[in-house]
Amino acid sequence: MPLQSHNPTALNHWNALKDHFEDIKDIEMKKLFASDPGRAEEFSIKWEDFYVDYSKNRITGKTLELLLKLAEEASLKDAISKYFAGDKINETEGRAVLHTALRAKKEASISIDGTNVVPEIYEVKQKIKAFSDAVISGAKKGHTGKAFTDIVNIGIGGSDLGPAMVTEALKFYKNHLHVHFVSNVDGDHVQEVIKNLNPETTLFVIVSKTFTTQETLSNATTIRNWFLRSADEKAISSHFAAVSTNLPKIAEFGIDKENVFPMWDWVGGRFSLWSAVGLSISLAVGYDNFDRLLQGANAMDEHFKNEDFDKNIPVILALLSIWYNNFFDAESEAIIPYTQYLNRFSAYLQQGIMESNGKSVDRNGHRVNYETGTLIWGEPGTNSQHAFFQLIHQGTKLIPADFIGFINSLHGDRDHHNKLMANFFAQTEALLNGKTKAEVLEELNAKDMDDASIEKLLPYKVFEGNKPTNTILIDRLTPNNLGALIALYEHKIFVQGVIWNIFSYDQWGVELGKQLANNILVDIESDEIAKHDSSTLNLLKFFKKNQK
Ligand code: F6P
Repeated sequence: MPLQSHNPTALNHWNALKDHFEDIKDIEMKKLFASDPGRAEEFSIKWEDFYVDYSKNRITGKTLELLLKLAEEASLKDAISKYFAGDKINETEGRAVLHTALRAKKEASISIDGTNVVPEIYEVKQKIKAFSDAVISGAKKGHTGKAFTDIVNIGIGGSDLGPAMVTEALKFYKNHLHVHFVSNVDGDHVQEVIKNLNPETTLFVIVSKTFTTQETLSNATTIRNWFLRSADEKAISSHFAAVSTNLPKIAEFGIDKENVFPMWDWVGGRFSLWSAVGLSISLAVGYDNFDRLLQGANAMDEHFKNEDFDKNIPVILALLSIWYNNFFDAESEAIIPYTQYLNRFSAYLQQGIMESNGKSVDRNGHRVNYETGTLIWGEPGTNSQHAFFQLIHQGTKLIPADFIGFINSLHGDRDHHNKLMANFFAQTEALLNGKTKAEVLEELNAKDMDDASIEKLLPYKVFEGNKPTNTILIDRLTPNNLGALIALYEHKIFVQGVIWNIFSYDQWGVELGKQLANNILVDIESDEIAKHDSSTLNLLKFFKKNQK
């Protein structure tokens, strides 16, 4: 069954929120804290090893009540059941959206077109385990009898970002294998990766859901040719593995059946790290850790599916995001993890969130008359504090931010960790409270400055504050809670798509770029240039004339 359709702006609670916004748009959070000692407690959720504090938002109890009613009015409950049951909610591609099935328990039963897909999923998981164990232990060897030392994941978008982000995030749990990622069609990328590799001890994993993506096929072909300079065709079977839905194309490439890992069209590329797309994760940290990642995601799935909306982390974070996006007209959201391990997390979420909810046509085929997908960006703290935090503190834009931090570090260096976390807490507090004129005056007076200098400097040193943040505090970065954290954002995407009445699981905009690039490649490689706008035409002529 498709998702129900509505125009969010016509919903009663959307309009009630509009009126309510007029009442509280200038409200100061610090006054809300001063008048309500229970505020932090009221607006926080404890779940497993997560503590989510969303009290530093421009909301009151009434805001939350209206947002929760909006979710109900938009039939979110019904949508969640359809999502988990495998209904074909990706209507424009006629597909179910079942990345959640990839981390379901073995005894679960999830049917697509009358077939329970869980046994197949477990078969592939078993294959991932056997393959990873054999490569890690050295039982599986290269064609000259040497154990593998390096793995190269060849893929792009969802076939790269998820595995690359998780492999980096779980570096602490890594084994001896060196894992590399080649994604960009930029030939310099692939050359930089292979230049120091020994083909005899390198395993290549080609990951492409469609097995038609230009970037991935070009990189795979380049690597194959490079490999064949020191080996014969037969050796391909020991050094290349592939993950795809397109089994005939894999066979054409010459990959041994043993090394082929299927995936399914009901798993979107940007949600696919839980499938065999995560093979390089399993190789990097071992299957058990890969499985723990899946178990953590499954725990978050259960929370999302079963918890009441007012204690449901993905639902609350999604509603807050809608509150800023659609009522405060905030355009972007920052995601700031306070751990270097998560340094690819924002880049990963950029695809997840912006490819999913960057849509302007609703589920009825009409152009929307409201804002949808937010811009996502961020970098780890404290580095980001010394880069773009100035704009968040004192710029003209409202930028809600998620701060993700861990109570305990992995290497256990308390001195560093306390400094890191002092910054973490200090930033959200500063964003909340700002610094008043009176506080700045007191500070400057203490410096023994003359009045004229103080007056001149004063406006620049005042911070308005009142900048919203969510704090996600987790015990210690593990495969398990990383899985839960990723799943949290996946479900946030889903909730927002449901309320905005858009299709979150297609990506036609990206497809257009692929088509046009193929056409222009013909212009570049032939004598003729087809018809273009004058700017593109001039650029192409200039490029061709000066190419050496
Ligand atoms: O970026 C667009 C996209 O279609 C993504 O959704 C996908 O993750 C990526 O391309 C790679 O596609 P494939 O896995 O089919 O090579």
